Amino acid sequence: TRHFVNLESLSTTEINSLIERSLAFKRGEPAPDFSGKTLVNLFFENSTRTRSSFEMAEHRLNMHLLPFETATSSVQKGETLRDTCKTLEAIGADALVIRHGATGYYEELMQTLNIPIINAGDGSGQHPSQSLLDLMTMVETYGTVEGKVVVICGDLQHSRVARSNADILKRLGAIVYGSGPIEWYDPAMGIPYLPMDEAVEQCDILMLLRVQHERHDGTTRFDPAVYHTTHGLTDERMNRLKHSAIVLHPAPVNRGVEIADELVEHPRSRIFEQMKNGVFARMAILEWCFSTKSIKGDDADDNTN
Ligand code: CP
Repeated sequence: TRHFVNLESLSTTEINSLIERSLAFKRGEPAPDFSGKTLVNLFFENSTRTRSSFEMAEHRLNMHLLPFETATSSVQKGETLRDTCKTLEAIGADALVIRHGATGYYEELMQTLNIPIINAGDGSGQHPSQSLLDLMTMVETYGTVEGKVVVICGDLQHSRVARSNADILKRLGAIVYGSGPIEWYDPAMGIPYLPMDEAVEQCDILMLLRVQHERHDGTTRFDPAVYHTTHGLTDERMNRLKHSAIVLHPAPVNRGVEIADELVEHPRSRIFEQMKNGVFARMAILEWCFSTKSIKGDDADDNTN
């Protein structure tokens, strides 16, 4: 069974192949017909982009979607994630797309399920489908990420997007820095720190992160205007970016905080292109999960069972 739970389990060959497939789907390559497959999307945390773009990808692959809403399910009676997923497998689901607040929720499921688990975000852990669409967007712009300077700026400590991206970008040969409030900088991520004013002058790719108020304990006072002036992408900083540089943000965006309102749709912002790319990246992920073709290189942990 092929699970898509993080990118560290995949070889660089597999990741490059997924990026290529995502770009091919965007160019109009015909999608495989998975009309015999039934998918369930289980979102225990809120989502707009990830859920909708997985649904769109599933439609484009002709998959059948079994509706599932946590709010009206027996999760509300205390049924565990494990039993919920076992139930859906017994009913006939061929794969589960899951977003859940528990970091690493998939470890136990991988031992008990014989259908692919696709991680749509686990707590403060990983968001591998977001990383894939981010990589796709960078490769679409530059042809490669090798040698490119990427600055990941913002709420590094709470961000599953940052964690997924820092690891994979380093493996693919990018030069990665962290920026944003020093108290949210996490040295364990293994990326050096750059203040925002230096970062904007050096980067080829500026990846802004959302301030995740829902993951903060509320003990530190947060001033959006101060954050914007100190760490945000202001008009003045935008003018100091390299002319070739691009701006990414996984969204939802706190307009006027991480980025000035008027810059969200700036020509060098790829924010809405990332959302468009998310559909193609998720088509490639679903195709990979159901493929029997081996494209594995030799630099990945094995997450199959
Ligand atoms: N980027 C992202 O994961 O957005 P959603 O939370 O809306 O899915």
